[in-house]
Amino acid sequence: MDKIRIQGGRPLAGSVKIGGAKNAALPLLTASLLTEETLRLGNVPRLADIETLCALLGQHGVRIENVEPTGEGALGGRTVLLTAGEISNFQAPYDLVRKMRASVLVLGPLLARFGEADVSLPGGCAIGPRPVNLHIDALRRLGAEIAIEGGYIRARAPQGLKGAEIHFPIVSVGATENLLMAASLADGETVLENAAREPEITDLAQCLVAMGAEIEGIGGDRLVVTGKPRLSGASYDVMADRIETGTYAIAAAITGGELELLGARGDYVESLIEVLNAAGVPVETTARGLKVKRNGGIRGVDVMTQPFPGFPTDMQAQIMSLMTTASGAAMITETIFENRFMHVPELARMGANITVHGASALVRGVPRLKGAPVMATDLRASVSLVLAGLAAEGETVVSRVYHLDRGYERIEEKLAACGAVIERAKD
Ligand code: UD1
Repeated sequence: MDKIRIQGGRPLAGSVKIGGAKNAALPLLTASLLTEETLRLGNVPRLADIETLCALLGQHGVRIENVEPTGEGALGGRTVLLTAGEISNFQAPYDLVRKMRASVLVLGPLLARFGEADVSLPGGCAIGPRPVNLHIDALRRLGAEIAIEGGYIRARAPQGLKGAEIHFPIVSVGATENLLMAASLADGETVLENAAREPEITDLAQCLVAMGAEIEGIGGDRLVVTGKPRLSGASYDVMADRIETGTYAIAAAITGGELELLGARGDYVESLIEVLNAAGVPVETTARGLKVKRNGGIRGVDVMTQPFPGFPTDMQAQIMSLMTTASGAAMITETIFENRFMHVPELARMGANITVHGASALVRGVPRLKGAPVMATDLRASVSLVLAGLAAEGETVVSRVYHLDRGYERIEEKLAACGAVIERAKD
C-alpha cells in the first residue's frame, strides 16, 4: 500500500488547478441511467470513486467511453460518454456499494426508468452510521414498493412513479439527488421540501434540465419537479470541486504561503472564506480563480459544520489542522456526522492539543506541529494529516493513501509543483 512522505515547514507558492468535483460527478454519472441517449460529461476528475461508480454502471449495462483531453487542456479532467441504451442488470451488488456509499444513487434513476432496482444496503462507514431511510421513505411517497431483503433494498414500481409532496425531516444531499432524478421521470409534479442546497445539487439539477427535465427553485430548499415521460442526452461540464478548493486554500494558510487556485469559485466556499478571513488569512478573487495568502499568524476561530451554505463537514478535518497552529483556541463542532473526529488522535501524535467533548473539539493552538507517522480512516481525515505534515517540523508519513486517491487527483504532484517536499512511497 502506498504512503505519502512529507518534509514539512516550507511555505507553498504558485498555482493549483482545481479539478471537477467528485461529489457532483458521482450523481451526474448516475443521471445517465435516466435516458437511452448518450450523456456527455466534461471535466470529470480521475479518482478512485469515479472508477468505482463507472464499474457499477458498467455492470448494469451502461456503455462508457472515456475521452482524454489533449494539448492545452491536458491537465483538465476527461470527458466521459455514457449510454444506458439497454440495462441488463438491475442489481447494485454489496461489493461495490460497500466500497462507496454514493452507489445508492443508482436507486432513483433505475426505479424511475425501469420500475425495478435491487441496491445493496451500504452498511456502516468510518464516519458513523449512514442510513438510507430518507431515500427509501421518499421513494415510497412516489409510489414505489420497497422491501429490505437479504441486505438489499428491493424497489419496484411496475406502473412507474407518481409525483408527490415530500418533506425531508433532515437535510440530505444524497436523498435530494436520488429524488430529483426519480421525480424527473415520475408522472406529475413532485415537491421536495427541506431539500439540500449544496452546489452539487444545483449542478445535477442543471444537467437534468439540459436533459429535458422541468425543475423550479434550483438553488433553494424547495424544488418543484414536473415529471417527463422521457429525458434525452445532453452535454454537461462538472463544476469545480469546492472541497479541493478549500483544502488547497488551507494548504496555503497552514504553510504561511500564497496559492492561486485556478478555476475555483468564491461563491461555493463563502463560509470557508469567512473563517479564513477571521483567522487572518485574506482570500482574493482573481481573473483565474481565488488567491489565498497568509500574512501573519493564524487566529483561533470557532467553526460549526452545517448543511450548505453553512460550513461543510467535508472541510472540518482540514480546518482543524489549521487551528492546531493558531494563537488561542478554537471550538470545532460537528453537527452532520456522529463519528467524524478520527483525525484527532493522529493530529495529537503530531503535537496538537485537542480535547473532544461529544460533538465538539476544543483545539488549543501550539507554536509548531512535529512530523510523525500517521494514518487515517477516511478521505478528508487523511488530507487533514497531509496538511498538518506540510506545516510540521520534520518528516510526516501518512499511510492508507488509498483514502486520498478516492478524492484528490495527483495531490502529491500538485503540492510538489508549489514547493512542497512530498513523495509517494511504496511499502
Ligand atoms: C454527501 C457527500 C459527503 C458529505 C455529505 C454531507 C457525496 C457523494 N457525499 O453524503 O461527502 O459529507 O453529503 O455534506 O456527495 N441521513 C439519514 N438518513 C438518510 C440519509 C442521510 O439519517 O437516508 C443523515 C446522515 O447520517 C447524516 C445526514 O443525514 O447525518 C447528512 O447526510 P447526507 O447529506 O445524506 O450525506 P451523503 O449524501 O451520504
